[in-house]
Amino acid sequence: MAFKQEFVWGAATASYQVEGAAYEDGKGLNIWDIFCKEEGRIYEGQNGDAACDQYHLYKDDVKLMKELGIQAYRFSISWARIMPDGTGRTNQKGIDYYNHLIDELIANGIEPFITLYHWDLPYKLHERGGWLNPESPEWFYQYARVVAENFSDRTANYFTLNEPQCTVGLGYYTGEHAPGLKVGKKDFFSIFHNILKAHGRAVQALRAYAKQPVKIGMAPCGALYYPSTNSPEDIEAARRMNFHIQNPDVNECIWNIAFVCDPIYKGTYPKEVFTFFGDELPEITKEDMQLISQPLDFHGQNIYNAVEIRADANGNPKRVKRFDGFPKTAIQWPVTPECLYWAPKYLYERYQKPIYITENGMSSHDWPGLDGKIHDGARIDFMHRYLLELKKAADSRVDIAGYFVWSLLDNFEWAKGYSDRFGIVYVDYQTKERIPKDSAYFYRDIIKHNSW
Ligand code: BGC
Repeated sequence: MAFKQEFVWGAATASYQVEGAAYEDGKGLNIWDIFCKEEGRIYEGQNGDAACDQYHLYKDDVKLMKELGIQAYRFSISWARIMPDGTGRTNQKGIDYYNHLIDELIANGIEPFITLYHWDLPYKLHERGGWLNPESPEWFYQYARVVAENFSDRTANYFTLNEPQCTVGLGYYTGEHAPGLKVGKKDFFSIFHNILKAHGRAVQALRAYAKQPVKIGMAPCGALYYPSTNSPEDIEAARRMNFHIQNPDVNECIWNIAFVCDPIYKGTYPKEVFTFFGDELPEITKEDMQLISQPLDFHGQNIYNAVEIRADANGNPKRVKRFDGFPKTAIQWPVTPECLYWAPKYLYERYQKPIYITENGMSSHDWPGLDGKIHDGARIDFMHRYLLELKKAADSRVDIAGYFVWSLLDNFEWAKGYSDRFGIVYVDYQTKERIPKDSAYFYRDIIKHNSW
């Protein structure tokens, strides 16, 4: 059985990781522009000032996508490019850029999927407290309104937030990402609550100002778990790990998928949040939870790997130790194809929304061979294995709406700079030349047949 007829085969990127043009045409600064300049933050002191220069080369990238048969492009909008101060005045040149990109995509038969926020908060808003400021949901509302007013006549699909767990966990708690803060638990929970409220306000703005009916979801990540065997005990144990926070540890709480999904789909935080962190929580009102749980059309999930779980004699979940030499990618992430079957299955059972895999892929240390081509056999094998599992999920009646490979291009990999290459297209950062890797052609053939 193939994927369903309307299945969407896409590719994803994010503004700061590919656009470059950090100081052009009236764009305001964002937290990554500043963070990258701080010593010791980014691998080899690199930054996204030029990145892949998609700002100037978008026509080439769209052409490339067309040649590969890619049906949808998930890209994010740089908030500070269209609203340099984050609120108030807009920057027409920035808006024009996205208009041109969208028009070019549509002219080439590629559907735009917009992510509103992929981590690049306008720096002016950071100076006003960023996501800790209780006004931040209103800032995000205004921004989403500008997006709806300018792009929704041609763009019907939206993701509000990309991986809010990283924004808050890495940006404000461990400090590995911009803005590089290490706040205490109380602020941590306030920031998280604000960002979920911001999501709700953005959904409202998109629905209120869109020029056509739009479809909206979120694209979180999360620690995911799959059962060791098909025994009911193992399946239940892995489910428990997926949806229940096990310890009073913020680092565990933030990656638990129910911490973000229960509020947005069920209108309540998981009960462990109250038992483990009751004293640290901000005021959470009924109105807040109504706002946060605005009805959504689909669920986006970024999935790269998961942890194997077995039930012990009492049915309690136990992590299975990975064997020595377990396959892993260049960024040191394990290769666990099972996650593309189990994670959508668990998520669909619990939240009942059609699922887009909004990111999946792997990093490898690719370089052009003597023949000038990029032979990324490992990535082909990775995609093949993962997509077989995804198809198994689709065949077992999990509503899988589409798949976006991460990433279209090698790009600026946040704190890792340019050291990890996730693209199906190689980028020479000196010349900006693009070379489709072998995996891009493998992907092209899958898209063509909607299967193998
Ligand atoms: C993010 C991307 C990132 C990718 C690989 C995801 O967490 O959304 O921006 O490049 O993973 O690390």
